[in-house]
Amino acid sequence: MSQKGDFGAVRKDIAKLLHQPEYDDGSAGPVLVRLAWHSCGTYDSETDTGGSNGAGMRYEQEGGDPANAGLQHARVFLEPVKEKHAWITYSDLWTLAGVVAIKEMGGPDIPWQGGRTDYVGETKLPPRGRLPDAAQGSDHLRFIFNRMGFSDQEIVALSGAHSLGRCHADRSGFDGPWVNNPTRFSNQYYILLLSLQWRKKKLPSGIEQFTNYDEDSETALMMLPTDMALRNDRAFLPFVELYARNKERFFADFSKVFEKLSELGIVRDADGNITNVDVEFGGYIS
Ligand code: HEM
Repeated sequence: MSQKGDFGAVRKDIAKLLHQPEYDDGSAGPVLVRLAWHSCGTYDSETDTGGSNGAGMRYEQEGGDPANAGLQHARVFLEPVKEKHAWITYSDLWTLAGVVAIKEMGGPDIPWQGGRTDYVGETKLPPRGRLPDAAQGSDHLRFIFNRMGFSDQEIVALSGAHSLGRCHADRSGFDGPWVNNPTRFSNQYYILLLSLQWRKKKLPSGIEQFTNYDEDSETALMMLPTDMALRNDRAFLPFVELYARNKERFFADFSKVFEKLSELGIVRDADGNITNVDVEFGGYIS
């Protein structure tokens, strides 16, 4: 048990659990990043609902959303950290874990502040269906991410997180990693999106993704239809090209946009205290 508010101690314990030789590509990092993103990506600016506060995935309505399939692995990895530092809220722990994992996998420093509270009860959970559907195209990406307040450039920058991890047939239905070294944060995603030949491939399940697979190759990399949309959309493409050739610019922009993601739905005063959550009962003040 650490002292309340000692986020440095929590960071250290998150960093220690990343190495998981038996799991996926040997790291819990990618799935922790996805947990952080899905815990924030429900935000709707119009109704000011969803977002990084609350940790609603602890409840079946949000946790059991097919869009969140597989994220129980991330939550299980973090449980010993929560037990050891019982004072931290899940919503702080999940967003912080994403930030720590990105840094440990070679990514940028991302500013992060605590203070989120967890919902008590299910009444304020966001409805299902707010996260992106990978089978769709650029209109859908804009519809989903504009709702959260993100621009075209921010959509492209956020998507660079697909230099991490992989798709799992038993989770999303898609299958495979985007890059050859999926536990290293990099701009490889953009480079490969532009430089490889991508062909549509129908999986046995009937789901369509894009692959560079050829019979002689050991490595089969993949792209989702939404990833291909970034390359094929005239307004997205210049940002894909920018981040492919300028890694420093990608790291700087990614840091800013991931911080913005992790702050969705919360309002802070000048001292950093969150003013729109109910610290007594958890969740937002409505
Ligand atoms: C994995 C879709 C944006 C981070 C995945 C998977 C899908 C997906 C289908 C595979 C899940 C599985 O089978 O385990 C999308 C779509 C997006 C999007 C349609 C819209 C642009 C993002 C963003 C981030 C992110 C904004 C973070 C900033 C990740 C990571 C993984 C992943 C790290 C790998 C997880 C693992 O290895 O377990 N995404 N994603 N994605 N996504 Fe995204």
